Amino acid sequence: MTDPRSVADVDPIVADLIQSELTRQESGIQLIASENFASRAVMEASGSVFTNKYAEGYPRRRYYEGCEFTDQLEQLAIDRAKELFAADFANVQPHSGSQANMAAYFAVLESGDTIMGMSLDHGGHLTHGSHVSFSGALFNFVSYGLNPETELIEMDEVRRLAVENQPKMIVAGYSAYSRHLDYEAFRSIADEIGAIFLVDAAHFIGLVAGKAMPNPMDYADIVTATTHKAIRGARGGLILSKEEYGKAINKAVFPGYQGGAIFSQIAGKAVAFHEAMTAEYQEYAVQVIRNAQALAGTLQAGGLRVVSGGTDNHLMLLDLRSLDEDLTGKEAAVVLDGVGITLNRNAIPNDPRPPFVTSGLRIGTPSVTTCGMREGEMERLGSLILDTIAKRDDETALKEIADGVSELVAAFPPYPAEFPGHV
Ligand SMILES: Cc1ncc(COP(=O)(O)O)c(C=O)c1O
Repeated sequence: MTDPRSVADVDPIVADLIQSELTRQESGIQLIASENFASRAVMEASGSVFTNKYAEGYPRRRYYEGCEFTDQLEQLAIDRAKELFAADFANVQPHSGSQANMAAYFAVLESGDTIMGMSLDHGGHLTHGSHVSFSGALFNFVSYGLNPETELIEMDEVRRLAVENQPKMIVAGYSAYSRHLDYEAFRSIADEIGAIFLVDAAHFIGLVAGKAMPNPMDYADIVTATTHKAIRGARGGLILSKEEYGKAINKAVFPGYQGGAIFSQIAGKAVAFHEAMTAEYQEYAVQVIRNAQALAGTLQAGGLRVVSGGTDNHLMLLDLRSLDEDLTGKEAAVVLDGVGITLNRNAIPNDPRPPFVTSGLRIGTPSVTTCGMREGEMERLGSLILDTIAKRDDETALKEIADGVSELVAAFPPYPAEFPGHV
């Protein structure tokens, strides 16, 4: 029989770290755009006995016995994903967003093929061709960026590059871009040159699920995503596609790039898809965007430049040089973390500083919206951010700001008092 004791009894060091992380998450304002608070139901499912099961293959085609419930679970997750995103096909096995991209690329392309994607410096992801990722090492990536004036993706330039380079795939999607993607224009460029159109919706799939954003599946051949950002599920990846690519995608995920899937995570994904089908979740998704717009407005009114002039989604990029030429993203992020506001430094388009320093910050509203904050709290939060930056050398002022942050946090806890782990 397995040891029946709790983690606190078996391994107090790990138990303490879990407790400390819960306290950290609950005692500050979490503004990292790719993070959220998963529900108790999601975490129970992803911490369940499905972690014990090996089930290589796909429902009803396994290499192991004892898969009757694993089959039902994976099929349920697949069916829910297909329904939620109106997709012909879904694969819920990728261990992460990066692995979803890797499998999707190799499902339809050969190593060395040309792909077009958004450059990392302008808001794309590492897996969109960065030389430090498999994508840049194994494929010939051609990057498009932003118009330097508007800071928007300029579709004429995307078309010009596509015609010139004839990529076999065009990737749209971002980690740090706050505007709608012009799916129609991407689709027509892909059709013009006979390329596959892939949307990496890792960041915003939750807003699509909540019907607060257009569905990329209406335009793309393949959509990849993560399941742990705005969508609030268990950590992992997801691939959706038109029917014709399904077989190749399944083969690329397993046995191509992964072994056994993590069925405990698939259980957590299934629960999150179920939660995302509710009216409550749809209201949440709409509020995430409203909150981002309210926060961006407050910061702009305080003189902080928002890249591209605003946001259509859950995130924004802030150009700190608008407040102080010498202020770096690194310094601002550290001082904000010190008062309890956690976010990340981020390069802004054409940033003269290196990626570890940067001139910008990235902010996202999925977590604070899960806590129940709305436009009024975003105004308060915006003032706290502006004050922290303005008074960053004044210890007494920072202490007062930290008290203000604590008050706001205390009024909007992410987890109820009876949540397991609260002491
Ligand atoms: C656009 C995009 N694609 C892919 C990923 C990769 O996801 P993961 O960190 O799960 O590998 C991310 C993660 O931030 C992302 O923003």
